[in-house]
Amino acid sequence: MQIKSRRAKFSSWTQREKVAGRYMRAAFRKMGQKGELTSAHNLGHVQRVSLYAAEYVKAMGGGRKKRAQARIAGMTHDRFRDAVQSLGQKKEESHETRSAKYMQPLFESRYKKSASKAIVEAMAKHGSFPALNEIGKNVVRDGVVFADKFFEANGAYIGFRRAMFMGERADIKERIAKEKIDITKKDQLQKLAVDVTLGESSKRLAAFSDLSKIPSHLHPFVRYQVEWQHKLVSGLQSGEPGIVNLVTTLFAEGLKSKPRDLAETIRAYSPLNKTDREFQREALDYLDGKLAVKFRQLVKKTA
Ligand SMILES: [Fe+2]
Ligand SMILES: [Fe+2]
Repeated sequence: MQIKSRRAKFSSWTQREKVAGRYMRAAFRKMGQKGELTSAHNLGHVQRVSLYAAEYVKAMGGGRKKRAQARIAGMTHDRFRDAVQSLGQKKEESHETRSAKYMQPLFESRYKKSASKAIVEAMAKHGSFPALNEIGKNVVRDGVVFADKFFEANGAYIGFRRAMFMGERADIKERIAKEKIDITKKDQLQKLAVDVTLGESSKRLAAFSDLSKIPSHLHPFVRYQVEWQHKLVSGLQSGEPGIVNLVTTLFAEGLKSKPRDLAETIRAYSPLNKTDREFQREALDYLDGKLAVKFRQLVKKTA
């Protein structure tokens, strides 16, 4: 009887994951129709945060219930991270708070108090790192933040994502108009793509790779991921042809009125040399969920 009831409990979480997945697919479909999604925030993004957040929870010894909660929090964490905020118009409330507040009553009506609290906290606080002495208090939150920052916003994938997102951003489009940059001319397009991607990468590197703010069990993995960003930055600084080609191609895609899906663009990208081929290979491995293997190896080393 006990086994049966445990199974019943687990299957209810499986069911909840399915419901959250269905709900977010429908929500993103609607936002997509209204042109509110970007390459940085789309269904693929939340699906991967969901997958890798659960991977983190598993690596920390979390059980099936916690993993299911991490998957749900990952799926829903950017419920309202739409193009309105990303593309320049300021909102009074952060997208983290807005998404959490919106989903809270739904979770509270369906899940136990402790489960909905863990998920809502993960959503509301995914914009910044937990303090070192908070790590482990809510493993669902840790998983979502780390999946959002170290998997999605680092590694080879970010080279593609950032360059494309730069092309989509309203402030960059305004700059093109204001400075009368002729993006039909290859040299002007390339110069701008390199300039904006380099500027943003340097800022991001400073904000999210300070190891003193990151728990030591993640250091080997974060170092591995950040190394790709260093390669990107040094390639942009020295004008390495493969890196320049990569960011220019993706930036140009982002500038289009209807850009292709980012994952599709990465798959279709034709590399110029060994450097951008390595970036593409690694980004595809990440998109296909294969980075979990590397993550397990690097996290296990210090465990
Ligand atoms: Fe977010
Ligand atoms: Fe996110």
